[in-house]
Amino acid sequence: MNDKPQPASEQRARELTPREIVRELDKYIIGQQNAKKSVAIALRNRWRRLQVRSGLREEIMPNNIILIGPTGVGKTEIARRLAKLSDAPFIKVEASKFTEVGYVGRDVESIIRDLTEYAVNMVKAEKRAEVNDKAKEMSEERILDILIPPSRKRHAVPAEAPLVNADEQEDNKATREKFRQKLRDGKLEDKIIELDVSASNDAPLMQVIGPMNLEEMGVNLQEMFGGLMPKKMKKRKVSVAEARVILANEEAKKLIDQDAAIKQALLRVENSGIVFLDEIDKIAGSKSTSGPDVSREGVQRDLLPVVEGSNVMTKYGMVRTDHILFIASGAFHMSKPSDLIPELQGRFPIRVELSSLTEDDFVKILTIPQNALIKQYAALIETEGVEVEFSDDGIREIARIASEVNENVENIGARRLHTIMTSLLDDILFDAPDDLREKKILINRELVQSKLMSIAKNRDLSRYIL
Ligand SMILES: Nc1ncnc2c1ncn2[C@@H]1O[C@H](COP(=O)(O)OP(=O)(O)OP(=O)(O)O)[C@@H](O)[C@H]1O
Ligand SMILES: [Mg+2]
Repeated sequence: MNDKPQPASEQRARELTPREIVRELDKYIIGQQNAKKSVAIALRNRWRRLQVRSGLREEIMPNNIILIGPTGVGKTEIARRLAKLSDAPFIKVEASKFTEVGYVGRDVESIIRDLTEYAVNMVKAEKRAEVNDKAKEMSEERILDILIPPSRKRHAVPAEAPLVNADEQEDNKATREKFRQKLRDGKLEDKIIELDVSASNDAPLMQVIGPMNLEEMGVNLQEMFGGLMPKKMKKRKVSVAEARVILANEEAKKLIDQDAAIKQALLRVENSGIVFLDEIDKIAGSKSTSGPDVSREGVQRDLLPVVEGSNVMTKYGMVRTDHILFIASGAFHMSKPSDLIPELQGRFPIRVELSSLTEDDFVKILTIPQNALIKQYAALIETEGVEVEFSDDGIREIARIASEVNENVENIGARRLHTIMTSLLDDILFDAPDDLREKKILINRELVQSKLMSIAKNRDLSRYIL
């Protein structure tokens, strides 16, 4: 969009090298090295592209990727983590949703509008964090102004009693500091004060009856005309605690350059946005399904310009989609990537297959990731003052049962671990803290077996429970 170098804040995490990216992903996702490698390259290529001289830069296209693999093996998780570690605006959409009756006519450009909305919120939140301390400080001053109004009347007649006035000013200052201390100590939180708030905040929404598309186009009449109408102020009684929030928000708004934030957000969407197109396999195959669904090929054709690069109008301005990274994903059981229309295939040159997860993978998934399920549950139960520990053979048994049920009932990948863990721990989760005597619980093989074996062995039962 422009040739100026990216502002520093637009550079930061994107400087991770492919190896570093994979190392970061390794913290959360077990195995799937090929997929991690591909997304790492795609991400790094985007940063590389930004370093290339303008002129050639515009010619370099992103490496859109199709992740192929059964359910629950980490496709979405990889994309999500990738977005997180690169601070990229990220959106996940089900491609199949555009074929559904309820969405007829819902244009795929809404993906880009939603992504932009996300980026704007993201940048605003960052800016907000930057001015947060200052805004809090200013809200404190404003609350003090309300608690101890500066004595205006006397100020107006200084000539009559200048000395007294100075004293009173001193008094006023002392009182103010006293109140400031009380305020900081949290002693005034429940006190009710009266605030001037702009009335537009809670005015009923202006109803616009017209083509739905206005909203879709991102034209927000409220915003367009809101600025034209005089701001009405309204008095509201709120507690000091509430006032802190309201006033800090107001002050932060004044401190943030909204236009600059939006500009930065648009840049970020264009240069580092990631769209995750889930269930792309459901729109592969040219034959439209019977019934009123929008044809799959139709959806592919709709997607094409967005993926190829086009201008999308959003309520914040025009967004070019040329360098947005698209990561598609699907199981491709019933169809193949070659069933997509050729143009779309061409825009997704990289195909990676993810493998099914084994019992060994499950052991690692349960224990290694920073957000591993075992750590999550241990932390939950610890809040009740109970320590649970999982022995190695206990963990191995959970993994074994998970892969057994996956094999016998339905392979839902690592999602199986969630259902197994909840069944395994439901007694503890229910009994704590009322009926739980032990303060330390060891979950070993015997315990896992006694809790789960009877269910796991019974196909019908495990279909419902595990
Ligand atoms: N390889 C893995 N390593 C660690 N956790 C995993 C792995 N695969 C899946 N999980 C966990 O399993 C859950 C489901 O994974 P995910 O959402 O990535 O599935 P998916 O491959 O996108 O499946 P679907 O095709 O159904 O969308 C997530 O909670 C994720 O953390
Ligand atoms: Mg998924």
